[in-house]
Amino acid sequence: METITITPSSQSRIHDIDVNRVSMGTSFSDHMFVCDYANGQWQNPRIEPLAPIATHPSAMALHYGQAIFEGLKAYAGKDGSPVLFRPQENAKRLNHSAARMGMPAFPEDLFVEALQKLVDLDRKWVPTADGSSLYLRPFMYADEAFTGMRAATHYKFIIFATPAGPYFSRRIRLFAETQYIRAAQGGTGEAKAAGNYAAAILPTEKAKARGYDQVLWLDAHDFEYILEVGTMNIFFKIKGEFVTPSLDGSVLAGVTRSSVMTLLRDMGFSVTERPVSMKEIREAAANGTLEEAFGTGTAVGIALVDEIGYQDTHIAFPQGNPVGEEVNRRLNAIKTQKEADPFGWVVPVNVPVLQ
Ligand code: COI
Repeated sequence: METITITPSSQSRIHDIDVNRVSMGTSFSDHMFVCDYANGQWQNPRIEPLAPIATHPSAMALHYGQAIFEGLKAYAGKDGSPVLFRPQENAKRLNHSAARMGMPAFPEDLFVEALQKLVDLDRKWVPTADGSSLYLRPFMYADEAFTGMRAATHYKFIIFATPAGPYFSRRIRLFAETQYIRAAQGGTGEAKAAGNYAAAILPTEKAKARGYDQVLWLDAHDFEYILEVGTMNIFFKIKGEFVTPSLDGSVLAGVTRSSVMTLLRDMGFSVTERPVSMKEIREAAANGTLEEAFGTGTAVGIALVDEIGYQDTHIAFPQGNPVGEEVNRRLNAIKTQKEADPFGWVVPVNVPVLQ
């Protein structure tokens, strides 16, 4: 693979905004990484000024949905130098998604190097305020101009960056959905495919209109087993132990999910991945053994759950999430190098990564 060429922007837009006070996805850093796939290989990896990209009206992603994405964050680490959190995990998951969607794999070492070089160049865009970070959005889509139905032969892989503040500033309310589904066995649920999010938009808007923050997705067969939340995985604490739905093929393998499992175990808690039913949650709430719930995701971090609306009932959680808050604190401290990183999760942007 060729080396990454860099064309710096002639003028930074950094002075137009306060990176510590913008919400995610509203401002974008000066540069983007772009790489093209043609003739069976990835080529021309480059960092250039962020700008719109011309798209053919028949670009296949627009019609047949070969589009996948990732999300990870750069944080201001010690001395203010930017660091990435577990970027290799995102590289692997991108390729897992690509395989399911009939798309080519992207070289994992180039994925990490591109993130490092982009963040190194746009380091002024990494916020320093507590709970803020530079959200990085790697994505791949079919940009071949063709209207027949088959796997595309031309793709683009792009990374852009957007400064992000905290996603939720309070405990959240979830709506357990018993009409619509997000994913079914054999479908694309464990891929981070754009279409999964498209299918979630209408149910999410309906849940918001009812006063909820996000949808709690249930299994497609019985609407009984919990899968995940709109933009997160979910953990419950019942009788002192943590459970989270197992990765059954329709649940996204969250990087924050796996990090939180490691941290909870390190804190001495038992964490079990297994099917979790609404019946179990309702019974635990009724007999007083339901202690906490929180969602985990890159964009949201850790979102403490206040309540679940289910059919005509409300499942309320006790006030206070002592463990959720402690895991959140510890995870953020590791990500920002305020505490030691015993698991080797943090990757500086200006040194080569050993795979
Ligand atoms: C992320 O947490 O990175 C996500 O992909 C959520 C996004 C849909 C807001």
